[in-house]
Amino acid sequence: MTDPKGRRLSEARFGSDGVQVVQQEGVQMMKGSEKRRADHPIDELFLDRWSPRAMSGEPIPHTDLMVLFEAARWAPSSFNYQPWRILFVRRDSEHWPLFLDLLTTSNQIWASNAAALLLFISKTTFDHNGKPARTNSFDAGAAWENLALQGNLLGYVVHGMQGFDYDRAKSLLRVPEEYLVEAMVAVGKPGALEALPEKFQEIEKPNDRRPLEQTICEGPFRQDLWGLSKDKPVN
Ligand SMILES: Cc1cc2nc3c(=O)[nH]c(=O)nc-3n(C[C@H](O)[C@H](O)[C@H](O)COP(=O)(O)O)c2cc1C
Repeated sequence: MTDPKGRRLSEARFGSDGVQVVQQEGVQMMKGSEKRRADHPIDELFLDRWSPRAMSGEPIPHTDLMVLFEAARWAPSSFNYQPWRILFVRRDSEHWPLFLDLLTTSNQIWASNAAALLLFISKTTFDHNGKPARTNSFDAGAAWENLALQGNLLGYVVHGMQGFDYDRAKSLLRVPEEYLVEAMVAVGKPGALEALPEKFQEIEKPNDRRPLEQTICEGPFRQDLWGLSKDKPVN
């Protein structure tokens, strides 16, 4: 199935249990909106994206990868200075082991079945005057989310990772001083749940979010709203 420009699109299908899934070449990925409920009427796009770990190990076509990067490209940024940069490797390429080896053992277990590993970095200074950019991480976050949403729309697993060695990433990947290492991302085609170790199988489902009231505050910061919360973070 392709869009008018000939790009491959994921197909919406319903499984035997009536749950809508994204299907790509036979492997099904649950849509987040089948488990998640929003309290206000947002587009399902935001509920559908989630972070599975089961990936098939199949390669990702270059054109699909470029579509993901293109989505990141259109993120907004302060002064439109686009501080994000993305270093990437495709599976079985020369530098794949270098990127994979940066990950924690726990992340390597499932991310080794990815089709691509990405490292998001951001430039901490403006190009035009060399002054601190302040919003480089904020802007890089917007780029990552664009990429994640686009990947989900195409039926790819897109999973952000903080579990890697930031210092080694900076030195081994020759990231210059004025760039901040932000996060890594695993991208791949959905894979069989059963191929995951049991501890990952148990958490392989769309999770929830805390109520909106615990996130927003009209006016200045209020300690009584957030300061005393003993709630466990939603994993
Ligand atoms: C910047 C970032 C770093 C993350 N690091 C890891 C990681 O190292 N390992 C992992 O298994 N999941 C990681 N995650 C996935 C988060 O746990 C996940 O996004 C969060 O629980 C929300 O779930 P959802 O993405 O399915 O909506 C990371 C996500 C982000 C955005």
